Amino acid sequence: MSAVLACLCRRVSVQEVRAAVAEGASTVAELQRVCGAGTDCGSCWDDLRALVREQRGCERAPSSADSERPAREQGRPAFAG
Ligand code: FES
Repeated sequence: MSAVLACLCRRVSVQEVRAAVAEGASTVAELQRVCGAGTDCGSCWDDLRALVREQRGCERAPSSADSERPAREQGRPAFAG
């Protein structure tokens, strides 16, 4: 059985993101630290935020703080391995 991916770049599944949220992650930056989702191109951030909102039942979208900017905008290679 294949997992549905929430972050294609880092191959992080929706299930892994949900587990991270269940353990307290509530922003993209926290998900990045906990499970690595969203640490490359950033195209998954809207989906990550939606997963957080869905699971936490929160109306407030996580902030778009500087630490959540895509890696390429922070001067890091987008696909550093
Ligand atoms: S799809 Fe998640 S960082 Fe690119």
